Amino acid sequence: MDIAPDLSTTYLGMHLTNPLVVSANPLGRNLSNLQAMQAAGASAVVLPSLFEEQITHESHELDFFLTHGTYSYAEALTYFPEPPRFELAPDQYLEHVRQAKAALDIPVIASLNGVSNGGWIDYARLIQQAGADALELNLYFVPTDPGLASLAIEDEFVDVVSAVKASVEIPVSVKLSPYFTNLAALAHRLDVAGADGLVLFNRFQQPDVDLELLEIVPRPTLSPVGDEQSLRLPLCWIGILDGRIRGSLAASSGIHTAQDVLKLLMVGADVTMLASELMLNGIDKLRRIRLDLTHWLVDHEYKSIGQLQGSLSQRSVTFPAAFERSHYVRAVSGGVPVPGR
Ligand SMILES: Cc1cc2nc3c(=O)[nH]c(=O)nc-3n(C[C@H](O)[C@H](O)[C@H](O)COP(=O)(O)O)c2cc1C
Repeated sequence: MDIAPDLSTTYLGMHLTNPLVVSANPLGRNLSNLQAMQAAGASAVVLPSLFEEQITHESHELDFFLTHGTYSYAEALTYFPEPPRFELAPDQYLEHVRQAKAALDIPVIASLNGVSNGGWIDYARLIQQAGADALELNLYFVPTDPGLASLAIEDEFVDVVSAVKASVEIPVSVKLSPYFTNLAALAHRLDVAGADGLVLFNRFQQPDVDLELLEIVPRPTLSPVGDEQSLRLPLCWIGILDGRIRGSLAASSGIHTAQDVLKLLMVGADVTMLASELMLNGIDKLRRIRLDLTHWLVDHEYKSIGQLQGSLSQRSVTFPAAFERSHYVRAVSGGVPVPGR
């Protein structure tokens, strides 16, 4: 009889029963959804973010980044949701962390989402006091000021991470967008600053045009099943960074199936995070993915996911250049691509 393969993994120093983690999304605002995620096999959950703007809306301390936007600080603030429109006020967020911890056995990762090195960072400690097992710091910024140098942005990010690390003992991961001049260099700097892991990547939410209202509107997009481009961003960068940084690597973007999970583990992911799939097809989809993962491992005679983790990262493959410009040149110099191959 087959022995079930060992799906366990380590993320941010935490032992997880499997690599399926739920990433921050609105389903996590609800305790019964969080319980359903645990029951369906999630090994950890990341709660939706508490935003810097929620914390600093009244104290007007969004110092560095909003003053570097194209528009004035006051004007930018008028576009943020009013405090009552944020789903959870800061104190309610802390209560949600407490309740999630009480309701779940799996690790609860809280999320702080902001960009500047200001007083809002105190919430990291409050989140720790509320019982979170780890903190994910989402550094989401859209630079528009032509006078703002890339290095100034990266310096500020490193300062934020250092400040958060200095204020808590729980592990801290950093969620990034893929759009940096040299992501490997920034990853290294964040690693040195003490980040316990990187979450690659944020989904870049661009605004849309409403043709009836004739307005620019916020309209979140989900990654659809088979969205190869979303998946290949973390696949490429985790493959490049595996073994080059001390911290853990979490994949986020475009993960919908066990095959997606397997590919990301092979290039070096410690965990794979799902959001769109659960919003599109229900929390129970986690069960199916976990089952398919187990079947694949049994069929391919793997005893544990540890056996395949990193086996196809840049440092492991015969042709490391497959992750670089030479891949691009080869990919676009062939004939017309055949869909699905
Ligand atoms: C509607 C929506 C809300 C989200 N809320 C958050 C959030 O509060 N904090 C955060 O770090 N990421 C948030 N995300 C990003 C997801 O956690 C995830 O990184 C991204 O959607 C890519 O993964 P996916 O392709 O599985 O959706 C949100 C995404 C969506 C679509």
